[in-house]
Formats: sequence, C-alpha cells, structure tokens
Amino acid sequence: MSADDQKRQAGEAAAELVESGMVVGLGTGSTAAWFVKALAVRKLHIRGVPTSDATANLARELGISLAALDDVKAVDLTVDGADEIGPGLSLIKGGGAALLREKLVWEASRRCVVIADAAKHVTVLGKFPLPIEVVRFGHVHTGQRLADIAAEFELPPPRLRMADRGVVVTDGGNLIYDMASGRIDEPAGLAAALKAVTGVVDHGLFLDLADEALLGTDAGVVRLT
Ligand code: 5RP
Repeated sequence: MSADDQKRQAGEAAAELVESGMVVGLGTGSTAAWFVKALAVRKLHIRGVPTSDATANLARELGISLAALDDVKAVDLTVDGADEIGPGLSLIKGGGAALLREKLVWEASRRCVVIADAAKHVTVLGKFPLPIEVVRFGHVHTGQRLADIAAEFELPPPRLRMADRGVVVTDGGNLIYDMASGRIDEPAGLAAALKAVTGVVDHGLFLDLADEALLGTDAGVVRLT
C-alpha cells in the first residue's frame, strides 16, 4: 500500500469520529486533506476551524461551513497530520509551514487526533528537521540565536526555509527556520529554549497535545494512545 493510501485510510477513519453539531479543527497537509474530503462526504452539520488558508480553501470548495478560531468558544475535536510521531505521542509538525495556526487550534481543542501514514511513527524524534517560525524583523539575528541553541544541543545551525520562488512566508507573514537534528533526546528542554527566544513565534514540537493517533498501515488503521 502506498503512503498516500495509508494517509487516506487514516483520514477516513478520523472522519468517522465527527458528529453533527461539533466544531472541528481542520488540520493542514496531505493527510489532513484526506480527512477534510472524507468529512465533506458525510454532509454533517458541523463548523470547521481551518488551520491554514490552504485548508480553508479546500473546505470551502467542498461545502464545509467555516468559523474563525475566535468565533467559537472551544473546538470539540481537531484532526491533523504530523511529520513525526514519537514516544508519548510527542510530535514534530510544521512541514507545511502551518505550525502556528495549527498549535493555536490544537490548544483550543477538547480532543486532538493526529493522523499519519505508518512511516511517521518513530522511536525518537528528529530525523525530520524541526520547523521554527520566526518574525521577519531581525530574523538573521534570531537565526543566530537559534544557531547558538542548536550548538548547545550539539546540532547544526538551522536553515531559513526557501522554495522555488524565494523565501517561504507563512500565513501569518512569518519565516521558517528548519533545525536538522538527527535525534531530539530532550524535546521539552529544546522546546523551552526555543520559546525563550524573542523572535521565535513558535516551533513544531507538539508535546502533550495529541490525545490519540490513527496510523494508516498495510494491516489497517492502528490506534495509538
Ligand atoms: C503542516 C503540518 C502537516 O500536518 C505535516 O507537515 C504533515 O503533512 P502531510 O500530511 O502532508 O505528510 O504540520 O504544517
């Protein structure tokens, strides 16, 4: 089975968790897109809170009613993808540059379900470079502070994320630095050090946020708690 089939399986299983009347956080990325498509097919009366402009556009095209995060008191259930799922459902997210809105929606949610293909499940986080969102003003100086932190954790300096058309800009107008590490042995310590940098808006370590994971595998969907 291809990774995309596994993503579809996980997205479809997550769509079954949604009930009419819910406020649903809509994640970002290819796996979350499968969830949004499967949710649209069910034609439930829900309101979706999108975590990116891309997801908002997809949901709108599919006829899902949308609400802004500040238009709802709380989100009943958020379903989103991840770049890595490590021990204790610790996550790396932000490969799609949407980590800030994702984390804001996750933190406002009563229940968070992460969906992924089997290869995303790892024994230690860090093979996927950790995305860090920084404000544009003074970002070269912020990048230097990130390099200092990386050195403390014996990691190479983070790199400004570029795309074909130039520097990647997030939906919030910020930039992304990616910190390649190989392995993150102390995610909580690294998260705290990054968050203490003034120019850092947030980072892609999602710790103690996911309630469960639905992994698409060749043997069907596996639930991790
Ligand atoms: C976007 C994310 C995505 O959820 C993550 O990158 C996984 O993407 P995909 O489902 O396409 O593999 O965090 O910021």
